[in-house]
Order: sequence, then structure tokens, then C-alpha cells
Amino acid sequence: MSMNKIVRQTHRWVSLAFTLIAIANFVALGVGADAPWLGYIAVIPLLLLLPTGIYLFVLPYLAKGKKTATP
Ligand code: HEM
Repeated sequence: MSMNKIVRQTHRWVSLAFTLIAIANFVALGVGADAPWLGYIAVIPLLLLLPTGIYLFVLPYLAKGKKTATP
């Protein structure tokens, strides 16, 4: 698997984990549960999404001028 593919797959699956934790966080708030740690652990996938997302953002600009499938 190429580096780009690994980063894209990582971004995709970590975003799913982040979404689930975010939903759990809102549910906890809704039922009045005292679970501030749910909000704190959401930061872990978010910190992974930031560098992988920036990498994905920069990719097409790096590919400019090269003959690749990336637009
Ligand atoms: C934290 C800052 C983030 C940055 C800078 C970022 C940036 C990006 C970029 C540039 C792409 C590629 C878009 C393309 O190729 O057209 C992407 C794809 C994606 N992002 Fe993010 N993102 C971030 C956070 C998130 C979050 C919070 C979620 C969802 C919870 C998310 C979900 C996704 C998904 C599902 C894709 C598609 C991945 C795929 O190709 O399968 N991202 N993101």
C-alpha cells in the first residue's frame, strides 16, 4: 500500500472513531451523565485527523506537474 493510501485510510477510520466518540459525548450530555472524559478522549482521534488531513490537503498540490491520477 502506498503512503498516500495508508494516510487516507487512517484519516477515514479515525474519523469514524471520532464521530462515534462525539455522538457518545452528546448522548452523555443529553442523559445528564457526568462523563467529561468522553470529551477529553475525543481529542486523541482529532489530533490524528489534523496532520493526516493536512497531508491529504497538500497532496494534489504536490502532484501538480507530475503525471498521476490525482487531479
Ligand atoms: C482536523 C482537521 C481536518 C483536516 C485538515 C481534514 C482534511 C481533509 C482532506 C484534505 C481530505 C481529502 C479531501 C479530498 O481528497 O477531496 C479529507 C478527507 C476526509 N475527511 Fe478530513 N480533515 C479533518 C478532520 C476530519 C474530521 C473531524 C472528519 C470526520 C469526523 C473527517 C472526515 C474525513 C473523511 C471521511 C474523508 C474522506 C477520506 C477518504 O477518502 O476516504 N476529517 N479530510
